Amino acid sequence: MKYNFNERIERKNNHSAKWEEMDKKFISNDLWPMWIADMDLKTAPEIINSMKEKVEQGIFGYVYRPDSYYRSASNWCERRFGYKLDPGTLINSPGVVPTLSILIRQLTEVGDSIIIQSPVYYPFACVVKDNNRNLVENYLIKDKNNKYIIDFDDFEKKIIENQVKLFILCSPHNPVGRVWTREELERLSNICLKYNVRVISDEIWRDIIMPGFAHIPTASINKVIEKNTITCFSPTKTFNLAGLQSSFVVFPQKKEWENFDRELGILDIKRNNPFSLVAFETAYTQCDTWVNELNNYLNENMDYVINFINENLPLIKTKKPEGTYLMWLDFSALNLNKDELSKFLQEKAGVAVDDGFWFGETGAGFERINVACPRYMLEIGLNKIKDAIDKSF
Ligand SMILES: Cc1ncc(COP(=O)(O)O)c(C=O)c1O
Repeated sequence: MKYNFNERIERKNNHSAKWEEMDKKFISNDLWPMWIADMDLKTAPEIINSMKEKVEQGIFGYVYRPDSYYRSASNWCERRFGYKLDPGTLINSPGVVPTLSILIRQLTEVGDSIIIQSPVYYPFACVVKDNNRNLVENYLIKDKNNKYIIDFDDFEKKIIENQVKLFILCSPHNPVGRVWTREELERLSNICLKYNVRVISDEIWRDIIMPGFAHIPTASINKVIEKNTITCFSPTKTFNLAGLQSSFVVFPQKKEWENFDRELGILDIKRNNPFSLVAFETAYTQCDTWVNELNNYLNENMDYVINFINENLPLIKTKKPEGTYLMWLDFSALNLNKDELSKFLQEKAGVAVDDGFWFGETGAGFERINVACPRYMLEIGLNKIKDAIDKSF
């Protein structure tokens, strides 16, 4: 291993939302943070160096984007996923969630139906409702091996019944950790094509993939699907750069690219900040090895959690994720309702985790934990949960 992911980092003087804004969602800031999707791991040293160089220049005025910026993203895509992107179809945006909000306004009207697959990253539901659109949920179901799968019949039925206009796909899926297969993506995309439903494929997790799985960009499946799919991605989850607030959108249709560009112009949010500019290009040109090693480390962290649960927490069920650094733990055997479970974990275990019901009503009884941290942090958090359960059940 070239990189050390076991390094302990003090984040309490880092203005970290994960560590110092817990009291906005939980009972206090004194909980052990296992929530929110950023990492307690330093970003790649190559990225830190490029940012240091920027700092040393001492000037942080307006920046332009060189061609190499978009080219680095399209080359990364080709290298990592075998899918060649025309850099001209790419556009920069301040983030995936702001992108979703703008696209919802551009592609649908007030009152139109938008479908998501719950349980799913909760801002999907918020951004639909906050824009006064009708939220339609296609619930993921479990197969006999406890693996989350798609209920395609329900997906099609809900599209017909609600005259759905837009589908927001989460691929790979936060929080259930599925890396959708080509067959699943093709089937979903074909149903959308059949009923003229546009697809936004949120692929922010596309780089965090566990051994034995491969991410398929939805737009790479075929030319017809490509034309119907707007893709969002970003190196922010992968390289722990979420605070730099930038992302990419891929528009297969020129007119829609222009509409989006015009909207960013109206809001005057077209530029990168100087740090996202250098950090993103460095990430996409120099950091393949870092990501490969990160994925190995995360994979070992997931194994650590699974072993810990098998040995110490027989009441909790989970399945190893195929991608993302999030694990979805089933606490339903404790027989607590969603508020009692949330209270128990905060008050008795002293941990901050993402409550499953935030992700939709079918998430009740589950909790999401983040394993992108040095292993000792998992050890502390899991032991806190174990001690509380041992005392109370
Ligand atoms: C599926 C998904 N999309 C988007 C985001 C956030 O993206 P951004 O910070 O670019 O708005 C997250 C963050 O966890 C996420 O899990």
